Amino acid sequence: MKESNQWNANEYNKNADFVSKLGLPVINLLAPKKDEKILDLGCGDGTLSVEIQKYGSQVIAVDLSPDMVAKSKKKGLKASVMSATQLEFYNEFDAVFSNAVLHWVTDARLAIKNVKQALKADGRFIGEFGGCGNIQSLQEAMQTVFERHPEYGEFLNPWFFPKKEEYAKLLEEDGFCVHYIEIIDRPTPIGDIKEWLDIFANGIMQNVPTSKKESFKKEVENILKPKLFTQENGWVVDYVRLRFAAQKENNEK
Ligand code: BEZ
Repeated sequence: MKESNQWNANEYNKNADFVSKLGLPVINLLAPKKDEKILDLGCGDGTLSVEIQKYGSQVIAVDLSPDMVAKSKKKGLKASVMSATQLEFYNEFDAVFSNAVLHWVTDARLAIKNVKQALKADGRFIGEFGGCGNIQSLQEAMQTVFERHPEYGEFLNPWFFPKKEEYAKLLEEDGFCVHYIEIIDRPTPIGDIKEWLDIFANGIMQNVPTSKKESFKKEVENILKPKLFTQENGWVVDYVRLRFAAQKENNEK
């Protein structure tokens, strides 16, 4: 799910399926139970929804990308196109689960409000997304290339990578009890930096003239190579996760 731009499900599957694979520890934190009703917020291609269903839970999957929702439906999931800031559920779910999505939602307060509204009393909100310092090298490299080329416009950062204290405060202010919240450094191998940019930074590159997109990516690659690339491990990006487990407070019943 992305709030600002859409991606293509085939490109995503070829080059970004690591995102789902690395989400399995978040399912452990969710600890789904048989017959629980769980919302997968930003289900992507549905890989993790299918994993959650294996516990006997009933999963409803939503994503902002119609392509991704179509992929999820092909896996037999009950899926629909919906944004985290416009969820249309009321007191329905035992848990809301979200992996690698909430950093795209810049109105975090509204997303949290929507999640709370979707949860039953005592319902759990379990998730992981980019935390403070996430992809710092990539952000700085893109910033540098924009500064070198004023004709590309401004570097507009579409992401929300909060500190754990900041996100915990937002959750608590909206009536969640935070049971666990941690920042986790997770250097992440990716296939290729230019493909990563194509998938995840196409919104950032939108004002770069088409004829200059390749050279934009090449410049970013050149800046990052000494830092993030080795012959032994290939590209390994400085991902930082914010993982949390919260519960809708009792007095909200
Ligand atoms: C992330 O999962 O942290 C992420 C992925 C793509 C763009 C930005 C962040």
